[in-house]
Amino acid sequence: MPPDATSGSTADTDSLLRPVAVRGERVYVIDEEGNRYLDAAGGGGVVTIGHGVRSVADAVGTALRELPFVHGGVFDTPQSLELAAMLSGSFPGPEQDADVIFTSGGSEATEVAIATARRYWAAKGEPARQTVLGRWHGYHGGTAAAQTLSGNRAPRQAYAATEVPLAAPCYCYRCPFDVEFPFCEVACAHDLEETIRRAGPETVAAFICEPIVGETSGAVPPPTYLKTIRDICDTHGILFIADETLTGGGRTGQFFAIEHWDVVPDMLIVGGGLASGYAPLGALLVSEKVSEEASGADEPLEPTFTYQAHPPSVAAGLAVQQYLERHELIARAPERGEYLTDHLAPLNRIARVGEIRGQGLLRTIELVADKSKRTPIPPESLFVERLFEKLRHDGVIVHAVRGTIDGTAGEHLMLAPPFVITEAEIDRPVHALEDALRSTSM
Ligand SMILES: Cc1ncc(COP(=O)(O)O)c(C=O)c1O
Repeated sequence: MPPDATSGSTADTDSLLRPVAVRGERVYVIDEEGNRYLDAAGGGGVVTIGHGVRSVADAVGTALRELPFVHGGVFDTPQSLELAAMLSGSFPGPEQDADVIFTSGGSEATEVAIATARRYWAAKGEPARQTVLGRWHGYHGGTAAAQTLSGNRAPRQAYAATEVPLAAPCYCYRCPFDVEFPFCEVACAHDLEETIRRAGPETVAAFICEPIVGETSGAVPPPTYLKTIRDICDTHGILFIADETLTGGGRTGQFFAIEHWDVVPDMLIVGGGLASGYAPLGALLVSEKVSEEASGADEPLEPTFTYQAHPPSVAAGLAVQQYLERHELIARAPERGEYLTDHLAPLNRIARVGEIRGQGLLRTIELVADKSKRTPIPPESLFVERLFEKLRHDGVIVHAVRGTIDGTAGEHLMLAPPFVITEAEIDRPVHALEDALRSTSM
């Protein structure tokens, strides 16, 4: 994930001493002094089933005892086959035999998606299609190619491998075209047309975006946005990759957020939600259309990351998915999300709250200096850092993020609690937030 407002190494944030966490229990993290923190951030949208689930720890322990490692390019394991079948079956749209490539997280899966898109086009006899386009202000990972697509200004400058044109963000609260939906006719989606033109249509392999933006803004698209994106990709014959590293695995109430709009991408990335943080695990799901073509190329489709389909990680992923199913936790996300939204709504009256947005158990509170003008809070006031500190002091962890507007200006808080959170437990961060937002000066 991009650096959050509280993990940087600037002089100001160095003074924030991190507690030493020693244990997790459901929605709580406990530090070495016995302080209990309600993890309303879900570790940054990773933790879905909560901490300390015995069946998952047992599955990982068994894997470690029985088969800690085989190379995923050489062997399958019963767990990797079962989890791959489960994921393949969850590919949105008509049933198909989607390929599943396991990775250690979202960044690696993004890299594999880029390689797969290029391989698809090479196999189709159009090797010049090398470019994968992204959007300003999305986030696809910390590796060089993923940064190139990410459009998050600060890390992009440091890491991006090359410059590619990026499309406008879909961010209604601060529309880059200054028009409201539906009058905008999703101008931000149509900006992809212009971006393809700038890149040179014959060089474009794919477009990647987060259907609901995760950490960088939490922006939810208007109803026709993703369908328009799909149509533009189809018109130009380019592949559509949905990055659901943060939303995949049920956080928004569907296994994949894109299902809310009935849009079917060509590839899907799932990350933290796959193993709920019990092990590093991500996956790229490749539609039959793409995998049939791409695996017809000279090399096999799978890349050779040493830890791809790492047996204990895959065992964790399978045990987490089984736990989610057994306890019907994905169905709980919209219901708890609604409760969270209803109880956050009164916070809209607070001067510093610009907008509260999100879907299911992923909610973002954008903070502003002036509500009517939507002006950002001056960064030197360290408002979001002080809010985070106050909340942490009160035993509540939220995700505090800087750069909401353009990667530099603006700030927000993200809430992404584990799905097992109860209504009474939701009340706690809501009250703590209200208190912190009312009592922290700008
Ligand atoms: C949408 C999205 N893509 C990619 C990544 C990178 O994933 P990882 O940190 O697991 O490599 C993240 C991480 O937060 C993400 O939110």
